[in-house]
Amino acid sequence: MSAVATDGRSARVAGAEIRLAGVAVELGGHRIVSEIDLRIAEGELVCLLGPSGCGKSTLLNVIAGFLPVSAGAVSAGGRPIVGPGLDRGVVFQSAEALFPWLTARQNVEYGPRRRGVPAAERTAAASRYLNMVGLRHVVDRFPDELSGGMRQRVQLARVLVNQPPVVLMDEPFGALDAQTRAVMQTELVRLWQATRSTILFITHDIAEAILLADRIVTMTAGPDARLKTVAPVSLTRPRDLLDPAAVALYRQLRDDIGTEVTKTLQAQGLASAAEMTA
Ligand SMILES: Nc1ncnc2c1ncn2[C@@H]1O[C@H](COP(=O)(O)OP(=O)(O)OP(=O)(O)O)[C@@H](O)[C@H]1O
Ligand SMILES: [Mg+2]
Repeated sequence: MSAVATDGRSARVAGAEIRLAGVAVELGGHRIVSEIDLRIAEGELVCLLGPSGCGKSTLLNVIAGFLPVSAGAVSAGGRPIVGPGLDRGVVFQSAEALFPWLTARQNVEYGPRRRGVPAAERTAAASRYLNMVGLRHVVDRFPDELSGGMRQRVQLARVLVNQPPVVLMDEPFGALDAQTRAVMQTELVRLWQATRSTILFITHDIAEAILLADRIVTMTAGPDARLKTVAPVSLTRPRDLLDPAAVALYRQLRDDIGTEVTKTLQAQGLASAAEMTA
């Protein structure tokens, strides 16, 4: 389903299904990932975990339409992905993605303005989404007048205001302190439950993945990485990381990822560091 209600009256959008079938990606003549088969259902929240450099961002960039595949097929909402589109919003790790010369409100209004949404409607929509991320009181501040957590919320509002059926998030909370990060994780689940968009969320943090995801996908070490495991998370929300099922899942994922991180470190000649993590 396409985005609706440009004035922001309704936050609910139906998510779109993402499909990757037999996907391989080459960059600079090197095979980065191969044989990627993944289906993310409409409205599902999937977290992707894997060692540094294995190709997580590469896969996200393929779905965003920033990178072509060298083999296989990738689609969103049943349509082949041939480039970036308004149906897929991307939230980056760094809030540098905000325009520093625009206020929080103007940053959020940027997308609707580009789409030709009339001024009154886009102002109402920006207010609604800035309220949703708890920034009602700072809408007229510039990015450098906001904390890192606030900037990241503006980025989230700037993506969500376009009501994309798919939201792609590349370590969006990676640069935040632990307390702000915990608040943002709770906020994200709340916003996702309100909008029901499909979310692919990359993280290095196993606990974050367990708190957020419907399913957690792990990857092997690169080069030529594959998907390694897919773990459904059946815990009810809000989740408790001390729940025995969460602890068991944490152990399993730590082992899945740990062996791949060790391989990566060894490949980089960091044998002693690899032994330390073993
Ligand atoms: N333009 C490029 N040309 C050649 N190789 C590239 C290019 N861009 C990325 N790579 C390589 O592709 C691999 C995967 O990179 P990617 O950024 O997808 O990893 P990642 O899993 O997101 O890592 P991190 O967790 O550190 O963000 C890396 O080995 C990287 O060096
Ligand atoms: Mg990355």
